[in-house]
Amino acid sequence: METKILSADAADLAEGGRLLRMGGTVAFPTETVYGLGANAFDECAVKKIYAAKGRPSDNPLIVHIADVKMLKTLAAEIPAGARELMDTFWPGPLTLIFPKAEEVPKSVTGGLDTVAVRCPADVTARQLIAEAGVPVAAPSANLSGKPSPTTFRHVQEDMLGRVDAIVKGTDAPVGVESTVLDLSGEVPVLLRPGAVTLEQLKKILGEVEVATAVRDGEVPKSPGLKYKHYAPKADVYILKGSLDAAAAFVKAAAGQRKIGMLVFDEFAEVFVRIPGLFVLSLGGQRNPSEAAHRLFSALREMDAAGVAVVYAPEIPESGMWLAVRNRLYRAAAERILDLQTVSVPPFADQTKEEGAEVTAEKYEAPAGGQERIKKVLFVCTGNTCRSPMAEYLFRQKAEEKGILAEASSAGLYAGASPISVQAAQALKEAGIDAGRHVSRQLTMELVEEADLVLTMTDQHKRMICQAAPDMACKVETLAAYAGEAGEIPDPFGGDLATYRVCRDRLAQLVGKVLEKIR
Ligand code: TXA
Ligand code: MG
Repeated sequence: METKILSADAADLAEGGRLLRMGGTVAFPTETVYGLGANAFDECAVKKIYAAKGRPSDNPLIVHIADVKMLKTLAAEIPAGARELMDTFWPGPLTLIFPKAEEVPKSVTGGLDTVAVRCPADVTARQLIAEAGVPVAAPSANLSGKPSPTTFRHVQEDMLGRVDAIVKGTDAPVGVESTVLDLSGEVPVLLRPGAVTLEQLKKILGEVEVATAVRDGEVPKSPGLKYKHYAPKADVYILKGSLDAAAAFVKAAAGQRKIGMLVFDEFAEVFVRIPGLFVLSLGGQRNPSEAAHRLFSALREMDAAGVAVVYAPEIPESGMWLAVRNRLYRAAAERILDLQTVSVPPFADQTKEEGAEVTAEKYEAPAGGQERIKKVLFVCTGNTCRSPMAEYLFRQKAEEKGILAEASSAGLYAGASPISVQAAQALKEAGIDAGRHVSRQLTMELVEEADLVLTMTDQHKRMICQAAPDMACKVETLAAYAGEAGEIPDPFGGDLATYRVCRDRLAQLVGKVLEKIR
């Protein structure tokens, strides 16, 4: 379809209003993010919103009004506390949830008996709604799953050809969506944090509950919270730890994959010096409004730059930080890397699991005898020295002992390289030809396929367990699985003698592993 681009002039807004009245879809600026509007009383028009966004249709929409008078047509009653909130924060970035009037179509409310209403502060938005003469249902004007649009350009990127018109306005000053407060129950519940803060709401209402998902992405109370939101294409991780630890961690990661880094101005200098890192600032460390204003744009920029992974700082919970934290941690699907326990970045191809807390789990030996171990995967860093040696030694010994078990290997940071010269030589002396080995990157699929994953160091093990907590039960260090203490030090860069020591140690441990799984 052809998308008209409208300005914020009176004539253009009148045209926008006409399109809305006629059942069309019009994207428009608000102070929070751009919205994608349709006449809230026109079921057919509302369906077009879902289609344009590619959004599940049980997710309710916020209905936007030009003034408080319009609320009468939407809310069946005005609960206690609502008046003062409206007087204080409307027009503005606060959405209130009321018991719905009968006329409000269920397609707007996602089948609920309540309706979410907001009177935006943006003058263009209110003028457009006034021109339409009807309440305007409008979710954020992004394709479902993408970060909400905060600029006209973002909306064009996502919606050109999918909607009837886009009103070109300024960049959204707030930058994150409105605060959503549910007033339909006994106690008010904060469903989504925004520029109107929890502290401000409590001042007026006294008690306000906070939906769990607001802080830690758990059980969705607001239907919208169950969908993956705010997610850029890149995998986002929150780094928890000191500046030094973060810098060391990111330095190790840079060069492995294309890495993006979100920082605060105060620390930018540390990170821009790291080669190969794409650094964007969220503004000053004490400026949550600026961080909110920049966040979604920054995430989109990261995608445009083609980064595979974005590392981001921890965010506080107070005041407007809570809104920034909620969006960023959800973009990260709650993946928080504690730099006290991880010091090298996780491997590629992680599946994104919403709400999956990243924690290493305790190793539990596979239940003895119940499930035969047939496939053993050895893991080291580059898959050119230790893990291929373990793989080939394992295969040789399994054959000698007549044990039917397969071996393979991979590296946490591996390209496609041949086995190291010394490792090949050390194996040759043991009667093994490993000349055809090509190193490969560890992937989630490889971990899934294996019955047992044996790593050279504790660090390797922790990284795998963090990336795949639900597979932690089959990951162990080689030494520990063989019933011994210690790790296999990396012989990389050492002489042949060092490699022989490594080979002999591996041979010994692999022998014990085979006895154990026989
Ligand atoms: O800032 C904003 O609120 C932007 C701009 C365009 O105004 N709009 C926006 O709408 O963010 P949307 O549809 O992307 O988000 C609506 C949120 C969702 O989390 C949804 O689940 C929740 O509000 N919501 C809507 N109606 C609800 C209801 N009756 N009960 C509970 N949650 C509701
Ligand atoms: Mg949205």
